[in-house]
Amino acid sequence: MLKRTAHCGQLSTSNVGQEVVLNGWVHRWRDHGGVGFIDLRDRSGIVQIVFRPEVDKELLERSHKLRSEYAIGIRGEVVNRTSETVNPNIPTGAIEIIVKELDVFNSSEGLPYPIHDAVEDQNESNRLKYRYLDLRTERMQHFLGVRHKIVSIVRNSLDARSFWDIETPMLSKSTPEGARDFLVPSRLHHGEFYALPQSPQLYKQLLMVGGIEKYYQIARCFRDEDLRADRQLEFTQIDIEMSFVDERDIQVVVEDFVAQVFKEVLGHEVQLPIGQMTYDDAMEKYGKDAPDLRVPYELLTVTDIFPNTQFKVFKAVVESGGAIRALKVPGGAQLSRKQIDDLTAYVGEFGAKGLAWIKHQGVEGWQSPIIKFFSEAEKEALTTRTGFAAGDILFFGAADLTTVNDYMSRLRVKVADDMGLKKEGLRFVWVVDFPMFQYDAGEKRLVAVHHPFTSAREQDWAHLDGDPTKMKARAYDLVLNGTELGGGSIRIHRRDRQEAVFSAWGFKKEDYSEKFGFLLDALGFGAPPHGGIALGLDRFVMLLSGAPSIREAIAFPKTQRGQDLVMDSPSAVAPEQLLELALRKVTKEPTS
Ligand code: AMO
Ligand code: AMP
Repeated sequence: MLKRTAHCGQLSTSNVGQEVVLNGWVHRWRDHGGVGFIDLRDRSGIVQIVFRPEVDKELLERSHKLRSEYAIGIRGEVVNRTSETVNPNIPTGAIEIIVKELDVFNSSEGLPYPIHDAVEDQNESNRLKYRYLDLRTERMQHFLGVRHKIVSIVRNSLDARSFWDIETPMLSKSTPEGARDFLVPSRLHHGEFYALPQSPQLYKQLLMVGGIEKYYQIARCFRDEDLRADRQLEFTQIDIEMSFVDERDIQVVVEDFVAQVFKEVLGHEVQLPIGQMTYDDAMEKYGKDAPDLRVPYELLTVTDIFPNTQFKVFKAVVESGGAIRALKVPGGAQLSRKQIDDLTAYVGEFGAKGLAWIKHQGVEGWQSPIIKFFSEAEKEALTTRTGFAAGDILFFGAADLTTVNDYMSRLRVKVADDMGLKKEGLRFVWVVDFPMFQYDAGEKRLVAVHHPFTSAREQDWAHLDGDPTKMKARAYDLVLNGTELGGGSIRIHRRDRQEAVFSAWGFKKEDYSEKFGFLLDALGFGAPPHGGIALGLDRFVMLLSGAPSIREAIAFPKTQRGQDLVMDSPSAVAPEQLLELALRKVTKEPTS
């Protein structure tokens, strides 16, 4: 076998005159007046190789049989291209290799689809089924290269700070933490199951009890939840835990490697320290706890302006205890009826019953189908509250607070996108002071906003017996351009407080003792104050490399329907395998 002495993409005019051996794939081939030209590709890039009749006629003949994606080796001489054949579009465009020897390692079947064509023209199922071919593209290699770079910077940064990389079990225990668990049946204990970890949360806390002090892991997590553009069933966290620290100690560790990653991968200087915003502020101004700060406008609450309004929609919402939230878009008066209808349909997907609006047409006054319902006092109050001026549009959402925040926060981003007003760049923010608990109307009980191992601010523990919704958690989320990149908290390290939080969460003593008895026991043995964070690595890659979906950030991702198309999993198993596990397949009958 011809073994490589150089890499295709790294050759340049400085190699002219050298003899090199290259290994790689036939990227493109063509014949020009009896001369064979091939773009040879390896992971480093592409270089043109040339088969000339005057060098070796028989070799030229053999080269005619080469087709796309054949794996080959060649030996040849690096030469300058003539000035008229220089290709400025590729880094190696000034040179080419005159081939003297050819070794065909393997042929390739006709490709199932044109793998190097623009991704927009391709069907994603094909790309996922033949993922090993998709991985040959420059685009996928870029994403995986960025992923590798991030991991390596994170590892170096944490190593320099004396963190230890420790693995935690994959076969773990089912605990009621948030998402649905993936279960693994036990062969040795029939009828019992392991759960795949949703995160190493409890193990890393036990590591702190175990005196490890500084832990990290590039940890695989499993959550059986509905998939979205930024979610996968299995994904990877940069998982960190530290002892004897406060919030800022953890944030500093993260800011340090985040800044290094952005500098080294994008050449972008992240302004440190990253700014902080309270959860309450984020919800009030952006309607979302992961705000996109590239959008130059904010939401306003105007519920109090309409206590006696003639506009039935608003009246009904005010009476039912809902909220009216306004978005003022400067320059938005130019939006056409069609654009407004499209925005109305868009928010409709997120539960909006309509989208009221008013345009400020300068001297011609206000224009809106609903303006006839507004009193002078209401108009005046709106002007004062919003600074409504010529050329602006005001949008209104009216619904229960959760729904209105959800669709108005999306409207905010969508309008900015449509009008081309979203600013360029990367806008980081720490969102802090989350509530400890929120009342879940569906489940009719308090639920932890982060996980139930999160500590409250010292001054807030007094509310636990009174109104726990008043308590603020010592939690922090790192948000980038409207996506939650990571989240963490200072944990509860005292057994009595952990038990009290489980109780407030609506857990009976026997239930939490059964599920979390091990944690409570461990906290009882001098557990140190500790805290940590986890960043979604796949999301990090996605945001950093501009990948349109989290699937691009993962070598072998699952589809939206949770399938691995390469291996065709999940799949049925042999009856003997089920028998060994004492499992029987049942057909789920509709309940009559
Ligand atoms: P959390 O559940 O917020 O916290 O997860 C931390 C980060 O992991 C990423 N992430 C996901 N990425 C892809 N697909 C998913 N399904 C998915 N779910 C979460 C997000 C998120 O910010 N143990 C705690 C962390 C801690 O308190 O230290 C935890 O898992 O980027
Ligand atoms: P209607 O009285 O239903 O014809 O609505 C009058 C205007 O109010 C239309 O522009 C609707 O889009 C808007 N609208 C209706 N329901 C809501 C709502 N819940 N929130 C905001 N605007 C609404």
